[in-house]
Amino acid sequence: MKSSPPDPQVDLWSDWLLHRRHADDPEYGQVVRAMTEGYADHVLDGARLTSGMTLADIGAGDGLIAFRAIDRIGPSLRVLLTDISAPLLRHAEELAIQRGVRQQCTFLECSAEQLKGIDDASVDVITTRAVLAYVPDKRGALREFHRILKPGGRISLVEPILRDEALAAMAIKNILDDAPPDSQDRFTPLLHRWKAAQFPDTEEKISQSPLANYSERDLPRFALDAGFTEIHLELHIDVLPSIITSWEVFLGCSPHPWAPPLNVILAEQFTVEERQCFEQIFRPVVEAGQSPSIERNAYLTAKKPLA
Ligand SMILES: C[S@@+](CC[C@H](N)C(=O)[O-])C[C@H]1O[C@@H](n2cnc3c(N)ncnc32)[C@H](O)[C@@H]1O
Repeated sequence: MKSSPPDPQVDLWSDWLLHRRHADDPEYGQVVRAMTEGYADHVLDGARLTSGMTLADIGAGDGLIAFRAIDRIGPSLRVLLTDISAPLLRHAEELAIQRGVRQQCTFLECSAEQLKGIDDASVDVITTRAVLAYVPDKRGALREFHRILKPGGRISLVEPILRDEALAAMAIKNILDDAPPDSQDRFTPLLHRWKAAQFPDTEEKISQSPLANYSERDLPRFALDAGFTEIHLELHIDVLPSIITSWEVFLGCSPHPWAPPLNVILAEQFTVEERQCFEQIFRPVVEAGQSPSIERNAYLTAKKPLA
């Protein structure tokens, strides 16, 4: 279990996807994997792949969508896996070799905003999952998607909507700002320090954060402005029973690649007494399974017009 802050030498994206997302806990890793497979399958349903197509999976990570697409369609599918993380591309390539599908795959290190090495009008379908959330220029990325798609080609994507987490962090900050100076409330400042370390907590910070400065309602507009048509959006809000009931896992995982895990926040920003107070309140809640998980995901499909 990792309890140290991220090493600047370590690739942030692979470290999160392969370790920090599930606190290196195999059991919780399987729970996360099953959830993300469900999201990937819904994206692939919207992609309407058929044999002989070329798919570009943008921000492919460890190949979650790419390999499930190959499983669905078989050897006739050609897949371009793009990512800004060279270690993740290498990892996905190793998995492709293990699965015996390397010859169907092309690995490209490039940003979603600049899909270098992919020709205009050369792919049939673009998929992406949890990538635009980290891209500052989402409109630019959608223009690139439009550029590389053949006329009549489709995008099918899903993005987490994390704006509500940021608004919640801001609401806690506002409570603190309005509290009388002699307030005896020990808990709210700790809660705020935790949330503010993981999400922007002011209007200004929210407006500057690629993660929080958009909502599901912006995605269709971005697609329309990039030249897409037949745009459909589904917002899924899933309130699930607590998926973490281990205090160690709760401490060790982080909600997104840019967020430090709670154990790092506690070590760096809390005194010993504050840590004890925090654990006294939160540990029983977590271990009793009383911290429901709320997932907000926006699925978007759209088509590049034929002419
Ligand atoms: C949350 S992970 C999702 C990975 C994969 N799509 C999945 O569904 O498991 C985010 C991925 O986006 C990649 N990424 C981050 N910023 C990117 C950018 N500007 N362009 C392309 N990929 C990016 C990261 O390297 C990482 O693989």
